[in-house]
Amino acid sequence: MKFLLNIGLMLLGFNTIAQTLLPIPDTLSGPNYVLNMHKDSVQFFPTGKISHTYAFNQYKYLGPTLILNKGSNVNMSVSNQIGDTTTVHWHGLHLPSMMDGGPHTIILPGAIWTPSFTVMDNAATYWYHPHFMGKTAKQAIKGAAGLIIVRDPIEAALNLPRKYGIDDFPLIVQCQQYDSVNQAMPLGMQDSTILVNGARASHGYTVNANFPAQIVRMRLLNASGERTFNFGFTANKQFKIIASDGGLLNSPVTTNRIRLSPGERVEILIDLNGMNGQTLHLMSYASELAMGVQGGPTMPMPVGSPPMDSPLNGIDFNIMQITVVPQTANPVTTIPTILTTNTPFTAGQANITRTIRFTADSLMVMDGPFYFNGNSFDMMRIDYEIPLGSIEIWKLVNETMVAHPFHIHDVQFFLIDRSGNVPSAEELGRKDVVLVPPFDSVMFITKFEDFADTTIPFMYHCHILMHEDDGMMGQFIVKPLSVGVNELKNNNNSLTIYPNPTSNLVNIDAKDMTSISIYNVLGEMIYTQNKTSTNSMQINTSQWSKGIYTVQVNSNNQSITKKLIVN
Ligand code: C2O
Ligand code: CU
Ligand code: CU
Repeated sequence: MKFLLNIGLMLLGFNTIAQTLLPIPDTLSGPNYVLNMHKDSVQFFPTGKISHTYAFNQYKYLGPTLILNKGSNVNMSVSNQIGDTTTVHWHGLHLPSMMDGGPHTIILPGAIWTPSFTVMDNAATYWYHPHFMGKTAKQAIKGAAGLIIVRDPIEAALNLPRKYGIDDFPLIVQCQQYDSVNQAMPLGMQDSTILVNGARASHGYTVNANFPAQIVRMRLLNASGERTFNFGFTANKQFKIIASDGGLLNSPVTTNRIRLSPGERVEILIDLNGMNGQTLHLMSYASELAMGVQGGPTMPMPVGSPPMDSPLNGIDFNIMQITVVPQTANPVTTIPTILTTNTPFTAGQANITRTIRFTADSLMVMDGPFYFNGNSFDMMRIDYEIPLGSIEIWKLVNETMVAHPFHIHDVQFFLIDRSGNVPSAEELGRKDVVLVPPFDSVMFITKFEDFADTTIPFMYHCHILMHEDDGMMGQFIVKPLSVGVNELKNNNNSLTIYPNPTSNLVNIDAKDMTSISIYNVLGEMIYTQNKTSTNSMQINTSQWSKGIYTVQVNSNNQSITKKLIVN
């Protein structure tokens, strides 16, 4: 991701506009992926201080794109060099909860987390980002995020553009607020700095992408903390939506707008045949968003009151310029009419309907805190116990005056109802985030399959990161059909913890143990001990508060962590 000033400075009126060529993150392929999350800095602004950032590997902001193949086993190695506790979540992937990177799976400063899993998801665009309790916004807006592209045989058999960076482009779009000393602000209600793949695209900068004169694929991710975009192209140029969050749509959907809320992804095809030499712009037509959707038109405020909102709210603005360049060799010039066959569950198959109301302390609350069914997130409270294999309808009812993008881990879902109607075609594919406008409702259906774990829950939350950090999150466990198995004991036989859960004494057996440390959910060390003469030790937990702990055992060349529940 080099920031090339390709056309240098263009004079536009009296303003100098610096134009940057769209950076394309490098890819990493499997089976072994090494991610090093570290501190860095970027001079985002022409004057003033550098902005402190978090990034992965060689980057100063964001990280490489991970290419995963459905059906293959992958081994991740995520090292935490940010000097703060974190987690890394594989957003959208269907995984055991222990590998999911939610707030219970902390990576301590200096530690390496090594999840491994089988890729079970359909070809689509996913992403990774931190998910540490109360600090997701703070860490993600500093740039700790990247894309994941899953490939599968169904998608591979279609005549679609898939040459990464040539006719298939990742587009991580963010809108952020920077404070007076140029640092990203988690509570960014006045967000007006647009970044595309980490390149500045506002306030005197534009980003230009050179796209060939053929069918081009764009993988759009809204990685903003709160803003919803309403993407489209200048001259109302039509495009085709081919994939939603978790897979291909049945057929391409022709449109000239796609609304994308934080966390959502969409893959689109744009036909640039015969347009060599022309330019167009990717825009956000935010004037068309409904009131209450972040980024849409805002309530009129009394004259003279201080600005509460971003100057971009409710206006149409430029995200990126596209310059059409000559065709590549073997261009894709037509679009398939059939993509795949999604088979949604039907309402009749559902075992249960759960209603999740989005609430606040009063109807006038605009910036939180928001709750689910009146409850603020509690790491120690399991909100739902879902039997493995359960097919469920979740009814999301927004009783607040702002829109919330609802996201659930573990599953992809199918929308079956939006405001009492059948959702439109682009929302009928697999999804893991859905925007619920103010005083509106949405129903989805999904199946909780494959992975049960009575210890580590999966999350559901609002993907407006400040809402999430402020408590608009809940958690569920998927219960195995036969309970009472000590599933932690079987997972990794070089570290055994029993009984687990415990209320009193716990035994820890590990091979070649040189030290052991135990951390609470906030990453604070509450117990540490150097090697005992044996490979076993017993610890009395009777004075510890109830909850989930991380046991870390170090041997000479590795450290292993596991969960311990005290109740
Ligand atoms: Cu993208 Cu629970 O997160
Ligand atoms: Cu997620
Ligand atoms: Cu929200």
